[in-house]
Amino acid sequence: MAEDAAKPSGPDLAQGIPLTEIHDGGMLVGHVGDDEVLLVRRGTKVFAVGAHCTHYHGPLAEGIVVDDTVRCPWHHARFDLHTGEAIAAPAFDALACWEVEREGDTVFVRRKREARKPSPRQVRGKPPQRVVIVGGGAGGFAASEMLRREGYGGELVMLSNDSAAPVDRPNLSKDYLAGKAPEDWVPLRPESFYTDNRIDLRLNTEVTGIDVPGRAVVLAGGGRETYDRLLLATGAESVRLSIPGADQPHVFTLRSLADSRAIIAQASGARRAVVLGASFIGLEVAASLRARDIEVHVVAPEKRPMERILGPQLGDLIRSLHEEQGVIFHLEDTAAAIERNWVTLKSANTLEADLVVVGIGVRPRLSLAESAGLALDRGVSVSSYLETSAAGIFAAGDIARWPDPHSGENIRVEHWVVAERQGQTAARNMLGAGEKFTVVPFFWSQHYDVPIGYIGHAESWDDIAVEGDVTAKDCLLRYKRNGRVLAVASIYRDVPNLLAEAEMERALSAA
Ligand SMILES: Cc1cc2nc3c(=O)[nH]c(=O)nc-3n(C[C@H](O)[C@H](O)[C@H](O)COP(=O)(O)OP(=O)(O)OC[C@H]3O[C@@H](n4cnc5c(N)ncnc54)[C@H](O)[C@@H]3O)c2cc1C
Ligand code: FES
Repeated sequence: MAEDAAKPSGPDLAQGIPLTEIHDGGMLVGHVGDDEVLLVRRGTKVFAVGAHCTHYHGPLAEGIVVDDTVRCPWHHARFDLHTGEAIAAPAFDALACWEVEREGDTVFVRRKREARKPSPRQVRGKPPQRVVIVGGGAGGFAASEMLRREGYGGELVMLSNDSAAPVDRPNLSKDYLAGKAPEDWVPLRPESFYTDNRIDLRLNTEVTGIDVPGRAVVLAGGGRETYDRLLLATGAESVRLSIPGADQPHVFTLRSLADSRAIIAQASGARRAVVLGASFIGLEVAASLRARDIEVHVVAPEKRPMERILGPQLGDLIRSLHEEQGVIFHLEDTAAAIERNWVTLKSANTLEADLVVVGIGVRPRLSLAESAGLALDRGVSVSSYLETSAAGIFAAGDIARWPDPHSGENIRVEHWVVAERQGQTAARNMLGAGEKFTVVPFFWSQHYDVPIGYIGHAESWDDIAVEGDVTAKDCLLRYKRNGRVLAVASIYRDVPNLLAEAEMERALSAA
């Protein structure tokens, strides 16, 4: 990144380039002064936008163009090429847009356009006057941002029992925990964002009930907040161990910024850590603690890490990635008891540990929905419009089970991008847009320098077709049932992964 900043790449677009240098549907990166600019050609149209994704700076030229949008190779954010608008999370900020001038067959880019406010979509019916969001995480944040982006001018209250404003949760087990990202990267937005956008964000505020007929939520302490529309985005909580010693101060779970800070504080004096559970979070924690030079043991009941979700090939790869970095696995074993300085396993093995992190999964926080009598099905049941069984109450994120048109099943997933995009769709539907949630689920996970991207949803499969070489970390795997591709996972094959996602969308709209 530092190199990019010093010397922008590609041709100087202010000097002009022949149109023939970009094929139809193609992209080219050049620069205008110090700014890197992406040129995209669509037939006779040429667009010029910022070359880097506004999420984590992904190189958009390595993504794909679908209709008049560009999709980021890293975490699949989408941008409108006409306006630069970030139309689908995880990016929220628009790309800069540039004027494109044509002189004969030469294209020139010289001037940045004034940032245009996205025009609110046409909505049906009377807009609500008061929206309440319960949850200050991925879904809640994305909904609040989209409500204002869509021009909603009424009252907007976000209630969160966390002490921190919405944070980039995936970072809490990755670079932030590893000590490679400063804490100012963690908030999704600075405090001023909430005041500037009149989002009444109330932290440390526990919602204890919903009065459905009275259209109000009840707060701990007895206060009430009335709503015209309500979004539940209460996320999930870490499953806790109930073995002896699990409540000691050196035993942690990881969900919030406070949890991550507490692990960092303990890690600063630790030599040996035991991670219980080979979940995504458990393994990302293992990687981050290795980056801090702590000896790490991972204890888990399965034969191969991540096999149930990613299959044996990627399970073996993930194991070897961690072993190459010095992680020691104790598989087909579990913890029986935790003492001050060691963990005893069921196998009777003992492992020394001055830090224990429990990553054995999460449980959706359903108690509000349950006590309000909303329909549940191993999650909060929502319609294609993300509305619960009570009119005017929507749900998004880790708690929501929705009819997924791609698998034909009602599914619930625990993915960052899905939670954000559900928040965005729920926001538009609270304003009457009547938009079905048809997004192909996507998640990513990072193990050292190896990113895994996954689209679709396969709870079970009867075949995994492997393209490329898994051990060389250059592969794409298709998870199939009865010959149909349900999901795709890839390492360093971002374009085929994006194309597979676009293909699933096309198949749905053609059906
Ligand atoms: C450490 C970590 C790393 C992760 N990494 C990845 C990753 O790499 N890729 C990926 O796809 N996913 C990842 N995930 C999962 C992803 O973060 C979740 O799927 C996502 O945050 C879910 O969003 P949500 O809005 O449903 O819930 P959350 O983001 O958990 O937000 C829920 C909010 O509701 C609040 N709340 C709950 N109950 C109440 C109540 N009664 N009253 C008031 N407030 C309440 C909570 O305080 C919180 O603010 C990770 C998760 C963790 C914990
Ligand atoms: S860097 Fe583009 S979506 Fe994350």
